Amino acid sequence: MSTTKIALVTGANRGIGAAIAEGLAERGMTVIVGARDARSSERVAGRFGGRAVPLDVTDDTSVRDAVASVRQWYGRVDVLVNNAGISGGATGQAPGEVDLAVVRGVFETNLFGVVRVTEAFLPLLREAVGARIVNVSSGTSSLAWQSDPGRSFASSRISVAYPASKAALNMLTVLYAKALAADGIAVNAVAPGACGTDFATALGLSLERTAEQGAGIAVHLATVPDSPTGAFLQDDGPVPW
Ligand SMILES: NC(=O)c1ccc[n+]([C@@H]2O[C@H](COP(=O)([O-])OP(=O)(O)OC[C@H]3O[C@@H](n4cnc5c(N)ncnc54)[C@H](OP(=O)(O)O)[C@@H]3O)[C@@H](O)[C@H]2O)c1
Repeated sequence: MSTTKIALVTGANRGIGAAIAEGLAERGMTVIVGARDARSSERVAGRFGGRAVPLDVTDDTSVRDAVASVRQWYGRVDVLVNNAGISGGATGQAPGEVDLAVVRGVFETNLFGVVRVTEAFLPLLREAVGARIVNVSSGTSSLAWQSDPGRSFASSRISVAYPASKAALNMLTVLYAKALAADGIAVNAVAPGACGTDFATALGLSLERTAEQGAGIAVHLATVPDSPTGAFLQDDGPVPW
């Protein structure tokens, strides 16, 4: 069996996910680009000699098929980065104007998608020694920061659905970290910071932080020798829950 670490990044065909995939490949990992769009995911994988696997985190069959492909190729997964995420857009999220369909859609991807993918890949993560799961959360999920009147988020146009989905993702992170400690699997959440990806552009935001900068903390947690577990981190340290 190969000694090279095997990493799977969801939503890795563009934005922060593509930058995480490239960052892990630069650090010597064999990286699988999990994504809905074959053309862009193969283009990203081609940049570093990785593989692309079709993966829609909201679709049971797609996730099951991806597990089967990765099992056949490598037999294990050392690093799973749950990066795929959506904002839900700038309308239908403000308290008083909530469109429940928007909330459901955001939770389907940002929360249920992570549960689906994590559960499906757990057997392959357990085949690795010292596996890692990195959940890409958001500073907007911090209850402490959302309650701090002195702090304004660049993405404040997205309100009820998005921050709540990521706060729930943080809870998942803690729960899985506790449950998987016995398997030696570290589970952490990261806040990439406000980055000028398509995500931001679609919300009408112009942000200077790059996808590569946003990817840094996820790459760090996926590769640092002694990983914490059950933590929520950004570049300069812990994010308050
Ligand atoms: N940008 C920021 O400022 C910021 C800040 C904090 C946290 N984040 C988080 O960082 C992560 C990446 O965001 P980004 O800025 O890179 O956004 P992005 O440029 O919009 O990219 C989102 C990625 O998620 C994928 N995706 C969405 N739904 C999916 C599904 N059902 N199955 C598989 N993939 C799916 C997209 O694939 P398609 O190409 O198929 O749509 C795309 O690859 C998200 O979890 C986001 O919440 C972003």
